[in-house]
Amino acid sequence: MNIIDIITKKKNKYVLLEEEIKYFIDEYVENNITDYQASALLMAICINGMNEEEEYYLTKAMVESGDMVDLSSIKGICVDKHSTGGIGDKTSLVVGPILAACGLKIAKMSGRGLGFTGGTIDKLESIPNFKTQLTEGEFITQINDVGISIIGQTGNLVPADKKIYALRDVSGTIDSISLISASIMSKKIASGAPYILLDIKVGSGAFMKSEQEAEKLAKSMIQIGKKYNRKVVCVLTDMNVPLGNCVGNSIEVVEAIETLKGEGNPRFMDLCETLCSQILIMTGVCSDKLSSINMVKDTIKNKTALEKFKKMIEFQKGNQEVINNYKILKKSNYIETIYSDRNAYISNVDALGIGKSSMLLGAGRIKKEDCIDLSVGIELFVEKGDFVKKDQIVAKLYHNNKNLNEAIKIVENSVDYCDEPIKCSNVIIKVIE
Ligand code: URA
Repeated sequence: MNIIDIITKKKNKYVLLEEEIKYFIDEYVENNITDYQASALLMAICINGMNEEEEYYLTKAMVESGDMVDLSSIKGICVDKHSTGGIGDKTSLVVGPILAACGLKIAKMSGRGLGFTGGTIDKLESIPNFKTQLTEGEFITQINDVGISIIGQTGNLVPADKKIYALRDVSGTIDSISLISASIMSKKIASGAPYILLDIKVGSGAFMKSEQEAEKLAKSMIQIGKKYNRKVVCVLTDMNVPLGNCVGNSIEVVEAIETLKGEGNPRFMDLCETLCSQILIMTGVCSDKLSSINMVKDTIKNKTALEKFKKMIEFQKGNQEVINNYKILKKSNYIETIYSDRNAYISNVDALGIGKSSMLLGAGRIKKEDCIDLSVGIELFVEKGDFVKKDQIVAKLYHNNKNLNEAIKIVENSVDYCDEPIKCSNVIIKVIE
């Protein structure tokens, strides 16, 4: 077998065999295939796609490139949750504690975000001393004791994805449904949970720009899950406007805590409730939507979800004072306020623009090795559909003097106004099982 034949076969739209896909993954991880050969094959896959079987074999070869987490010693129902990534997406920080308060066990390994803001791990690291690297033993003990642990991926989990993702990032091959599906599912399968909830973002601020693409991705991931006997449910959610009010790292932690205190943005809370409801039904904890939503609301009202978040911080050595004292989080040196220049309705707040602006301030990273500034970000004071008066605050940019003028301009251009009332679309687009 040789890589040139495999590249040529995919270039000519043929279906690859399991052994050819395995050969590519194994030899690339072993450095026996060069980056330029691997990118040629990835581009051929990007253009010509893969069928269901190929996607499964690709996932399987990637899973087998590293270790699998063994969650069998966890007492209770173990679930994992993943988002394809969006602007202001602090959902895991709210959904995880709520589900733990409902009695489920949340075993979540997260990556660092590439793109407009940090990932869940970066956000958690804005809590002073919070440890995101635990041993597998510590991870399992914490899940058994607290019900939730969110950590960075352990060293040898799907090494093939680490290598391939880095290459895709610089070779224009990120936006392939087959490659995204195998990348996400290989990590979810290797992480071990039998129940997996996937939040697939759709819209300007997401990988998937259309509902059709998102639906294809959902079906691909559900099929892979079935082959591994994992129950997967996908929720397609709107990412045309930012999620909640805050986009950044520290400020998203504050928003997550406020949400756990019952003071969250209603649209964001709606998303968290629906995601939790889906998991509670999927795992058989609740039999219907109404009882699951009531269970979720109770964990907010009686503060048990907030307590779980606090306990998770304690077990991961972070400073729990953050729950009541946001001042211990890193603060930006400066704040720039943007005001409305008219009386009008807000007809759009473009997620992509707000994401780009927060990235310019330093909240995100383009390359894995880039440093991010946890203190910067954008707080929005208006949402699509709101009526604003002239001189009302539209947004605050928390910054350290990096790219400020450009960031301001992008935020101003991301907020559109109109004279007629307008409704914001539902955050939930569709559930696919
Ligand atoms: N997230 C992943 O983990 N992989 C992709 O390919 C895209 C998003």
